[in-house]
Amino acid sequence: MRNLLSIESLNRDEILRILALGGEMKATRGRHAAHPLRHRCWGMFFAKSSTRTRVSFEVGIRELGGDVLFLSANDLQLGRGEPIEDTARVVGRMLHGAVIRTFAHSDVETFAQASGLPTINALTDAEHPCQILADLFTIQELLGDWRGKTVCYLGDGACNVPISWLWAAARRGDFRLVIAAPKKYQPSAELLARLGPGADVHCTEDPAEAAAGADVLYTDVWVSMGMEADAAGRMEDLRGYGIDAALVARAKPGALVMHCLPAYRGKEITAEILEANADTIFTQAENRLHVQKAILSLLAG
Ligand code: CP
Ligand code: NVA
Repeated sequence: MRNLLSIESLNRDEILRILALGGEMKATRGRHAAHPLRHRCWGMFFAKSSTRTRVSFEVGIRELGGDVLFLSANDLQLGRGEPIEDTARVVGRMLHGAVIRTFAHSDVETFAQASGLPTINALTDAEHPCQILADLFTIQELLGDWRGKTVCYLGDGACNVPISWLWAAARRGDFRLVIAAPKKYQPSAELLARLGPGADVHCTEDPAEAAAGADVLYTDVWVSMGMEADAAGRMEDLRGYGIDAALVARAKPGALVMHCLPAYRGKEITAEILEANADTIFTQAENRLHVQKAILSLLAG
């Protein structure tokens, strides 16, 4: 594995390897035998806000023995129009790896290619692979062998998080993914066609139908970063797709309720349901650290 740009570009074995190593990272935190980032400095290039991703990568890089620079895109010449290729060619001669959060997915691909550095996608408009890899880890940790089970995603079904879920379903081929979203927030037909025959995916406009018998209910914000201009319309369109007690009652008894955070109570999830599932949801956030350490150590070689 040279980069981690998308779940689309991973195969099943690579996913399982990341999850297994994530388990080792979690079990041995604070007493790792190996420090694969020793004498290496990674750069974190962020053009969007972040709490979980930023903290987990900064801590993770340090725990693996490395140094880290946090670089906000606005503070770089990038923010004044220097091309991403030139930025990449410069830092490729100085750093040992890069973690990037930005808008266009093509910018992350361009950066990886032009810098020659191991590059990790920390969220683009198209994918959030580290989030979903950590979520797969959390489900396995909490449910054990979950092959054949159903993950139900509710809300904006066309943003980065559900897209990475779709690729996880396609690449693993061992769970069912149901997406409940209004028609215009469903994944495109072109994307669904690209997933291939291994993906057990169903899209519906009916949240109650989607939640029925689900093993996991999952949601994300209704207004992703970069979509703020359309916030009012999204609130209107997505009302009725929030996770509340009635929806949870339709899922399997003991179903996990997950949220990648940040959460907007009263919108995509009620305060009551979030608090009732806080152990799961904050374990989900913590697991970003362990799984990303696995990714970093695999990329460090
Ligand atoms: N879930 C997630 O990626 O959170 P941040 O935006 O805080 O990094
Ligand atoms: N879909 C959200 C995820 C935040 C972690 C966004 O892009 O803002």
